[in-house]
Amino acid sequence: MGVVDEIKGRLDIVDFIAGYVPSLTKAGKTCKGLCPFHAEKTPSFIVFPETQTWHCFGACGAGGDIFSFIMRQEGYQFSEALRFLADKAGVLLAERSADDAEADKRRQKLLEIVSLAASFFHSRLLQSPQAEFARNYVARRGLGAETVQTFQLGYAPNRWDGLKTHLLQKGYAEADLAAAGVLIAREDKSSGYDRFRDRFIVPIRNERGQTIGFGARALRDEQTPKYLNSPQNALFDKSAALFGLDIAKNAIRESGQAVIVEGYMDALQAYEQGYKNVVAEMGTALTDPQLKLLKRYAGRFVLALDADSAGSAATLRGINTARQALTEGVKAVPTAQGGFRYEGRLDADLRIVSLPPGRDPDDFLRESPEAWAALVEQALPLVDYYIQTVTASLNLEVAKDKAKAVATLMPVLREIPNSVEQEHYLQQLARLVTIDERVLRAELERAAQKTARPADRYSARPAETKPQSAAKTTGGLEEYCLAMLLGRPGTLNSVNKKLVAQNIDVLNTEDFADVQNGALFLAVKHWAVTPNATTDPPLQTTDPHLEGRLAGVLALWHNRPAPLEYVERELPKLVLRMRRNRLEKQIRELNQMQRDSLQTNDRDGALQCRRLISEAKDNLNILDKAHDALSITGRRRMEETFRG
Ligand code: UTP
Ligand code: MN
Repeated sequence: MGVVDEIKGRLDIVDFIAGYVPSLTKAGKTCKGLCPFHAEKTPSFIVFPETQTWHCFGACGAGGDIFSFIMRQEGYQFSEALRFLADKAGVLLAERSADDAEADKRRQKLLEIVSLAASFFHSRLLQSPQAEFARNYVARRGLGAETVQTFQLGYAPNRWDGLKTHLLQKGYAEADLAAAGVLIAREDKSSGYDRFRDRFIVPIRNERGQTIGFGARALRDEQTPKYLNSPQNALFDKSAALFGLDIAKNAIRESGQAVIVEGYMDALQAYEQGYKNVVAEMGTALTDPQLKLLKRYAGRFVLALDADSAGSAATLRGINTARQALTEGVKAVPTAQGGFRYEGRLDADLRIVSLPPGRDPDDFLRESPEAWAALVEQALPLVDYYIQTVTASLNLEVAKDKAKAVATLMPVLREIPNSVEQEHYLQQLARLVTIDERVLRAELERAAQKTARPADRYSARPAETKPQSAAKTTGGLEEYCLAMLLGRPGTLNSVNKKLVAQNIDVLNTEDFADVQNGALFLAVKHWAVTPNATTDPPLQTTDPHLEGRLAGVLALWHNRPAPLEYVERELPKLVLRMRRNRLEKQIRELNQMQRDSLQTNDRDGALQCRRLISEAKDNLNILDKAHDALSITGRRRMEETFRG
């Protein structure tokens, strides 16, 4: 459960709002009071305990959940509201606390140090007479000048204080150098010494291109370990970073796929050979944060693992993590009927390449560079790979092994969302273990009942908190709207123009029933209008607690990118549908209130409801007319185009 849901689960909206709206009193199934956002004499501000939402049916017409209430009440941004409400709810926000600015400054300093160190090492490799051996090493490994330059590869001199002296001269303190991971401090606090000595240096950068650490390869047999990496520190987390992503991300985006290798050298060699969509996981099994990072750029992942680790237990574990990371989050897919279907789990395209025994990608690429593309092309889809690896070590003639194969593979088959695909693998498994398909299918269905479908997980609120929230049922549209804006940021402007031409408001945060989507929209909007500030998704402007949501929305786009004309045509209509949903929800609420009023003989209340219902219906008509108009102009333009 996300932190927003946790907060909503802990705070009751009626109690909370009553603190701001003293006039709030119970009226049937709802609560009614004077709107705090505009001056009024008759109460038109309603709180709905069932859905934990509020709405003003008076002049301001605003509405939302507890977050949008406090944002409006106090003029808070989403981040501020989050902090405020988390505090009220006693929910701990896992992040830097009071001294944000201080921490930022500190981080900035460490980044400077690491970046200066990278330049130092790089210039040594290129210029230093003592680096002759290292230069020969680079040449022997087949890395050319362009690769050396692009990755800023370097050489750490064989001295205890080469880098240290260089950086102290620039005014940094030893403690800073130690914190940045380039200096080893001594126990007794006497002066420390360079961590990297007489090694080939591979700077590790984050996806934004900031250097955060180093992998330093031994150049001589007696040096251990083979790779000495920067220690885990404020900048560098080996298990979360992906080597080469800053360079590879554009190629990953363009090719729609990321190739993941194990080592620095594999990624460097791939680049050298012109394969630019390759990143390295740096020796650890693929982690969840790494995959979330990649999901921003592509929807397909090809793991090219060394022959010895492909098929090992650790690899299978890694892939399992991958499966989970890739399939978490939002997967709303538009259907032909104009609705949304929630797809989950294995629809992320994850494939595995097996290299010839004893070869890693670096070897392979040097021996037969042209064959790499085909190798990647022939990667086995995850499920096939799984079946192959699991059954390879079993004797499928034996009952015990058959049972084992079924037990291991069934959970994987169960999570395939596409039923045709699922059937395919079920038949394959049936053939492999020579068990009747029907038996396996029964097993599959039996097991399926035990686990909730992803759709349930997404659309329903956690059972232990509040009843189902209406906001969630419109989530699919909102997220798809955000996905289109992220995928085609340029369309925001043209979409708004089309809406205005229909005398309809431009797209705004209020269009998002889900406050997290609203906050994300603001970030996307700022990002979309900043000319070319960065090609990255709007992370800088996003609250860290929204990153998961952002990743989900990006994945939605990567799974189903749409052409520009499609987005320009469909997005305004989608906005209208979002508004329609909101109005329909209001009408349902008003109907409920009208019934309540009649039951309590509140004639005025009932009349007021009736008036509001008819207003809302008028507004629905306006939306529908605009929708028709947009569809017709769209069609007309198409016809014109075809007529030539
Ligand atoms: P490899 O041993 O496959 O390294 O380890 P490599 O990249 O192919 O290097 P060469 O070809 O032998 O020069 C894979 C990755 O595991 C991490 C590094 O990130 C390495 O690239 N590793 C390996 C370490 O961190 N420390 C080590 O001592 C060894
Ligand atoms: Mn290697």
